[in-house]
Amino acid sequence: MNGAPARIQLCSTGEIAPGEALKVEVEGLSLAVFNVDGTFHVTDDACTHGPGFLSEGYLDGEVIECNFHQGCFNVRTGEVVKPPCIVPLKTYPSVVDDGILYLEV
Ligand code: FES
Repeated sequence: MNGAPARIQLCSTGEIAPGEALKVEVEGLSLAVFNVDGTFHVTDDACTHGPGFLSEGYLDGEVIECNFHQGCFNVRTGEVVKPPCIVPLKTYPSVVDDGILYLEV
């Protein structure tokens, strides 16, 4: 099918304060949603290194520190910022419409 991408509702933007993260489970995906100074970024919640959940990590600007072994990723690009993580984090396109954050699929 052509046309606009489908959308999956994630959360209300008001649920996540700047500098905070929220775990959202939709459509079999376990996602972490980050508010970086009013811009929202969506990634897999599971750390690529082990059992850590990034929604429970420490967000500093665009960088999330996993609270398990303190590895870091950029939540916008998914790239590894600090070991022991090696594999980049999967990121997902999202859009805000009328105060609601959607995944674009
Ligand atoms: S589980 Fe995240 S850094 Fe090891």
